[in-house]
Amino acid sequence: MARVIAIANQKGGVGKTTTAVNLSASFAAAEQSTLLIDIDPQANASNGLGIKTRELERTVYEVLVGTTPVHEAIVHSEMPHLDVLPSHINLVGAEIEIVDVKNRERLLAERIKAVRDSYKFILIDCPPSLGLLTLNALTAADSILVPVQCEYYALEGLGQLLNTISIVRKHLNPRLEIEGVLLTMYDNRLRLSNQVVQEVTRHLGEKVCKTIIGRNVRLAEAPSHGKPVILYDALSIGAKHYLDLAQEILERDKMRMAGKNGASVEPSAVVEAAGAAVSAVASAMQGPPQ
Ligand SMILES: Nc1ncnc2c1ncn2[C@@H]1O[C@H](COP(=O)(O)OP(=O)(O)O)[C@@H](O)[C@H]1O
Ligand SMILES: [Mg+2]
Repeated sequence: MARVIAIANQKGGVGKTTTAVNLSASFAAAEQSTLLIDIDPQANASNGLGIKTRELERTVYEVLVGTTPVHEAIVHSEMPHLDVLPSHINLVGAEIEIVDVKNRERLLAERIKAVRDSYKFILIDCPPSLGLLTLNALTAADSILVPVQCEYYALEGLGQLLNTISIVRKHLNPRLEIEGVLLTMYDNRLRLSNQVVQEVTRHLGEKVCKTIIGRNVRLAEAPSHGKPVILYDALSIGAKHYLDLAQEILERDKMRMAGKNGASVEPSAVVEAAGAAVSAVASAMQGPPQ
């Protein structure tokens, strides 16, 4: 049965889509059968994999509202082992359309049950909000991966996100784990980047992914070619970092399967640690961003 990982952070521009596309492609490169679900109406992940969503009649929108079975909307990507459930701009209206539907937060979880056995990993690229679409993703997921950009306002809003995770665990999905906080767009020439890494790691400890994603122009260029970075420039540092991240998650998954990982950290503990991290980073970085 697939491990379902939601990639979420209500802040825009932190690397959610870049992570969704390139982590999916890295799993596929490791011959792990993977499905990428694009639940952001902007459809950047779908387009970044070369899928022209405007021409599609069946997308995650039709699946959510229940007019199309999930397997009829899934398309193959250019890569073996990588399928996509594409998004569509129509999804903008979905949050309003499903607001009166019974169990509206559980729609995605219900709809993907039919394909959970067909994949090793299912990744969900979330929109930049904590609305109904993100709640559907968190309710369907086994874990959440939170990209955090190494910049001045990096941790702003993280407390709110972690509170949402606690609420989801309490009311909608008790098994939701925190896969990790992923530091992105790291630039080792910047003192600020290094400060963010230090403070976040000091406070969130083992919840921070060991792999840190560096700033790499190839990662920013690849989507306009409709390719994950591994197909656009396999030797780039961006490709290497996402392969490293896939390896890290695969290893953790193996440990979990073998039952060596013990109990997962209580989210309330993480919420407290994150609160401390937010204030520590803020006070460590008094003054304007450099
Ligand atoms: N590691 C990186 N190095 C360079 N550019 C990046 C990196 N990660 C993301 N970007 C660029 O930053 C912008 C925002 O990233 P994106 O993944 O779309 O964020 P989100 O989905 O959270 O809004 C995009 O233009 C993307 O190409
Ligand atoms: Mg995005």
